[in-house]
Amino acid sequence: MFKKNILCIGAGYVGGPTMAVIAHHCPDYRVVVVDINHDRIQQWNSGNLPIYEPGLSEIVAEALGKNLFFSTDVDGHIDQADIIFVSVNTPTKTFGLGAGKAADLQYWEQTARQILKASSTGKIVVEKSTLPVKTAAAIGRILDSNDKGIHFEVVSNPEFLAEGSAIHDLEHPDRVLIGARPTESGQAAMLQVVDIYRHWIPEERIITSNVWSSELSKLVANAFLAQRVSSINTISALCEKTNADIEEVAKAVGMDSRIGPKFLKAGVGFGGSCFKKDILNLTYIAENYGLFEVARYWEQVVEINSYQQRRFVNLIITNMFNTIVGKRIAIFGFSFKADTGDVRESPAINVCQALLDEKAVLAIHDPKALEGAAQELGDYAGQFSLETDPYEAASGAHAVVIATDWNEFSTLDYKRIYDSMEKPAFIFDGRNLLDHQKLYEIGFSVHRIGRPSLSRI
Ligand SMILES: NC(=O)c1ccc[n+]([C@@H]2O[C@H](COP(=O)([O-])OP(=O)(O)OC[C@H]3O[C@@H](n4cnc5c(N)ncnc54)[C@H](O)[C@@H]3O)[C@@H](O)[C@H]2O)c1
Repeated sequence: MFKKNILCIGAGYVGGPTMAVIAHHCPDYRVVVVDINHDRIQQWNSGNLPIYEPGLSEIVAEALGKNLFFSTDVDGHIDQADIIFVSVNTPTKTFGLGAGKAADLQYWEQTARQILKASSTGKIVVEKSTLPVKTAAAIGRILDSNDKGIHFEVVSNPEFLAEGSAIHDLEHPDRVLIGARPTESGQAAMLQVVDIYRHWIPEERIITSNVWSSELSKLVANAFLAQRVSSINTISALCEKTNADIEEVAKAVGMDSRIGPKFLKAGVGFGGSCFKKDILNLTYIAENYGLFEVARYWEQVVEINSYQQRRFVNLIITNMFNTIVGKRIAIFGFSFKADTGDVRESPAINVCQALLDEKAVLAIHDPKALEGAAQELGDYAGQFSLETDPYEAASGAHAVVIATDWNEFSTLDYKRIYDSMEKPAFIFDGRNLLDHQKLYEIGFSVHRIGRPSLSRI
């Protein structure tokens, strides 16, 4: 007999890992994760998980069938649940009012109405998805517009995990944030959610706030993280003009304890499903309140990210004698960051598309994201190949482009790679990941971000 029934609607990058960790630490709770995507659920149940995260498969295997269950029966599980986490997707709207900026809340609203329809008792509904500030009020109104005489309490509990380190982040979060209404039932609901996290997270890391602060904090955290990346990337452009070295500048700046060293790595830009979407959402909200200066400020973070990707493509083309027509270029990395197979908003997409538009022939290698690469570049079929072996990808290539910071790229045998390539052989390190001096000594012309080139030409 379980103490409580927890349901999560949405078995994606957030729902799956989050619930696996809750099930692992709360053997007294029954945790069910549901999704309308049958393939996804089948994969969660098969051991061949739909997403890659270090440590995830072990944790799922341990709890699966004991107190962790994956199912497509959304309605069937709603009524049994005491607490319902909703972690469905909230992409940027592509149509109508707010297109290209506002969050598309259709999946959330559908889910709320589904909860309402399938419930015979009141429940706590937890916003796990990232949502515009004030969404809880709208969802609460929908849920409470019932004639069953039942009450739903909407609590905000945004997720701060980073893909690639999701299990570590869930096990040891910097903080867990829970926002609730100041009413008696709001505070009681909040305590029930706090109770879950208390199983493994120290009290001082579980912080509570009002609902609006909680919703807004998630958008702001992502905006600040992305802003640091764009900030250092603007300085990388200045370094390239002045012979300053971005690695040296970032080190000196980051050692100031008021600034700190994290997220100061210059590169080809940020990606992932969240940063751009959440900043655009923030700007949309600011505009809605007439705060146009605030909106313009944050928009620049996204604009600089595109600028950095364009700069990187220009670096490649201009150094390869202004033409890459018919040239084989090996792309190392397609996921938006290391240790994930997720390609959503990956800078590699724009970089590859730009190179393909210039009629290059790409050989793409990534340890986990080749399927995603094939989907994203579907329009260019015949102009690229997918390579499971990095040496195969580089063989006969004019250039190697590092697009993702997979650690394993730094341990490859670059002498072997050099020997198999066309000459002159180029490396464009979009992540400043490799040992550039060593590559130069092997014979490569090395071009990088925010640092002087080591060029033989
Ligand atoms: N990916 C991240 O790193 C991350 C981190 C923190 C927060 N978030 C936020 O979490 C939310 C989910 O992100 P994600 O990356 O897990 O998305 P995702 O696309 O991987 O997963 C969402 C899942 O919800 C399912 N779904 C949609 N409508 C449904 C419905 N009516 N009933 C049942 N299932 C339904 C989809 O089929 C999908 O499997 C987003 O709001 C995102 O901004 C994501």
